[in-house]
Parts: sequence; C-alpha cells; structure tokens
Amino acid sequence: MKHFLSLETCEHHDLVRLLDLADQMKATRGQSNLQPLQGQTWALIFSKSSTRTRVSFEVGIRELGGKVIFLAASEMQLGRGEPIKDTARVLGRMVHGAVIRTYDHQDVVDFAHYGRIPTVNALTDHAHPCQIVADLMTIRARLGGLEDKVITFVGDGACNVATSWIYAAMKFGFRLNVACPKGFAPDVDLVRQAGSNVQVTEDLKAAAEGSDVLYTDVWISMGKETESESRLAQFAGYQIDHALMDLAKPGALLMHCLPAYRGKEVTEAILEAHADTIFDQAENRLHAQKAILSWLVS
Ligand code: CP
Ligand code: NVA
Repeated sequence: MKHFLSLETCEHHDLVRLLDLADQMKATRGQSNLQPLQGQTWALIFSKSSTRTRVSFEVGIRELGGKVIFLAASEMQLGRGEPIKDTARVLGRMVHGAVIRTYDHQDVVDFAHYGRIPTVNALTDHAHPCQIVADLMTIRARLGGLEDKVITFVGDGACNVATSWIYAAMKFGFRLNVACPKGFAPDVDLVRQAGSNVQVTEDLKAAAEGSDVLYTDVWISMGKETESESRLAQFAGYQIDHALMDLAKPGALLMHCLPAYRGKEVTEAILEAHADTIFDQAENRLHAQKAILSWLVS
C-alpha cells in the first residue's frame, strides 16, 4: 500500500518518475485514455480552506476515471470529536483513497495506517508535499534542471511549504537558502540533517544574490491567525520586490504557492511581472497530482 504523506519518505527515483509522469500528463491532457482510477471513489477530507488543492484534486480524480466526494471536516463527526482512527476505519471500507488537508500531521499518518487505503497529504501544519512536486515540475520545465540550481525560500522558514522544500533539497541536492526573520527558522535538527546545501539566514539580500529562484509563501499560515499582528511586524523587511529580484540571476524565477497577499510577502508589481510563472505553477498542481494519484494505484 503506497501513501504520499511527505517528501521525507519518498525515494529520489520515485520523485523523478513522478516529475516525468507529470510532464507526460500535461502534454497529453485530454488525449490520453489512461483511467487508472476507473471504478474508484476517492474522498477529499478538508479541515482548512482551499482553492487550488481542492479543485486540482477534484478535476484530477475525475480525469483519471474516478469519482470524488468532498467532505468538510467540520460537517463530519470528526468535527464533533470522533477520532481520526475511527473515521479512517469507516472510510477505508467505503472509498478507495483519501486526500486530506488538516492541522496535525500525525492525523494523516494515522489515517493512512488505520484506513488502509492510499492516502495523500493535501497540506498539514508540517508539510505540503503536493505543492513542491508541482513547483519542481515548474522549475525543471522553465530552467531545464534542478540539481545545479540555487533556490531561495523567503518568509516563514518553519512553515509547511519551507519544510517540504528542505526535504526536496535533501532528495535532489540543489542549494536551498531559507531567508527568514529571527524566530521563524526551520527546525534545527532538520537543517543539521539536511547538510551543507541548506543554509538558513536572516540576511535576505545575501540569500537572494545569485539565486535561480526566489520563492515565497504567506506570512500567516492557516492556523496562525492569532499571531497576525506580531507576524506582520516581524516579517516586514522580507517582502519580495523588483529591487530584490534584481539581485537574483538574470532570468531568475519568482514563485509563490498562492494565495498571494500583495503588499505583504510580495509587491503587486513583482507578482504581476512574474504571473506567467506563478500561474503555470498553480496549473501544474493538476498535472503533478494526477501523476501522484496514478503512481499510488500502480
Ligand atoms: N497552494 C495551495 O495549496 O493553495 P490552496 O490553499 O488554495 O489549496
Ligand atoms: N503555508 C501556507 C500554505 C498555503 C497553501 C498555509 O499553511 O496556510
């Protein structure tokens, strides 16, 4: 039984296979008769808001021949305290796979264990692996490779997206700079484990210099809303604008997992200047996740 819960537990060769398959999904969309989810029903169980992830999974599952049920966790007995392990044991007898967006990463691990059906992490507080597969696909297509690139993540270095970037750097060996304010650095043990190709700094300009990609995410992740005021103050100075992009390599990409907050982590002008990359990145969620789903049931 395969699951897709974190890049940490993925093999490099499987990730390369996923990226190749995602390229193929994109190139043959609408022309392929590949229906690996035919006869299957998948459940999407979401405890947090979503636009891209929900729509790309719903469309992707249907395009692969499957049916989909969207379940808002707040409307399930889960929301009234039914344990995740019981929810998993029930759904595991009814549906063929699950895509889960929630807070505690352990909940997706427990669901996979008790449900005994292929389970996908559609974002937890710890990791957002589907996002990073789409991002790697976008970088490969636009810059022609990954291993020799310098990628700089700017923002909350302890958030789910940054953590998944660190796992990606560990698998592919590219240089990853994490530029973040004091108090928002990634887990020290993880950075130590990653080795010298992952560097954490408070010096945004130094990190941006010579980068192939500047990447950012919201300053206030879902679940951190009570910290909004202090985060806005602490992250001021970590905004990506034209002047910062000019420090990166000529032709460098600006990437954002979205949703974007103009005037916070990015300026309106720099986001619009790089909209082609950023919305291609969003579209690639569909192709990357179709690859992940196909791989899970193969
Ligand atoms: N990037 C991303 O996961 O977007 P959604 O929150 O809209 O799904
Ligand atoms: N770090 C963000 C990612 C949103 C796609 C969050 O968790 O809200």
